[in-house]
Amino acid sequence: MKAFPSVLVALLLLSLFSVNATLEETCKELAKPEHEINFDFCMTTLQVVPGSDKADDLGLTIIAANLTYINFTHNQAKAEELINDKNVSEEDKKSLAVCHDVYDMGAYTLNDVIKYLRCPPIDAFKLKVDLSGVVTEASTCNDTWNEGNQKSLMAKEDDDAYKISSLALSVSTLIHP
Ligand SMILES: *[C@@H]1O[C@H](CO)[C@@H](O)[C@H](O)[C@H]1NC(C)=O
Ligand SMILES: *[C@@H]1O[C@H](CO)[C@@H](O)[C@H](O)[C@H]1NC(C)=O
Ligand SMILES: *[C@@H]1O[C@H](CO)[C@@H](O)[C@H](O)[C@H]1NC(C)=O
Ligand SMILES: *[C@@H]1O[C@H](CO)[C@@H](O)[C@H](O)[C@H]1NC(C)=O
Repeated sequence: MKAFPSVLVALLLLSLFSVNATLEETCKELAKPEHEINFDFCMTTLQVVPGSDKADDLGLTIIAANLTYINFTHNQAKAEELINDKNVSEEDKKSLAVCHDVYDMGAYTLNDVIKYLRCPPIDAFKLKVDLSGVVTEASTCNDTWNEGNQKSLMAKEDDDAYKISSLALSVSTLIHP
């Protein structure tokens, strides 16, 4: 029983000394030229998630990675739906197959990232490689349409995925291991 009050004191001190930046401060930081994240996009995307106002940079990275995961699985399903659509041309289906694969791989990576973010210590280098790869995957889908001079059937989805994955990557660079 004697240890209990000192644990409380320690927790109190910890919370006093590690006061987190608010979400607004974090988004302001990410809006700086080295990150180039749109401030309003950052706020509106993250503030809808319960707990984001109290989350530290690690917590926010988990939240952003989770939102990106949801986006990627949604895009993968959309690509699959269009692949099965009789009205879609064979040429478009080739691009859709590329998109399906990159969103599938991205979602797999994100699932892995979320898992290891929950078990610190975190390998900051691996995290950066993984999340950069996820951003590249979103652009790969976008690029496949441009290369074939096709009008993308997933322009909005690709754009969303690119923005949200870039946000996840940028937030992750704020983590201090
Ligand atoms: C394919 O296009 C035709 C004509 O535009 C339309 O009537 C039909 O519902 C479409 N089928 C699908 C599966 O979207
Ligand atoms: C994303 O977060 C939700 C809610 O906390 C959780 O149920 C889900 O498993 C998370 N997704 C991943 C891929 O971890
Ligand atoms: C996606 O492709 C369009 C052209 O179709 C281009 O304007 C846009 O910048 C590309 N987006 C990304 C994230 O590469
Ligand atoms: C994907 O992310 C965008 C933000 O870039 C968001 O507006 C959209 O609602 C998300 N879509 C899904 C299915 O989560």
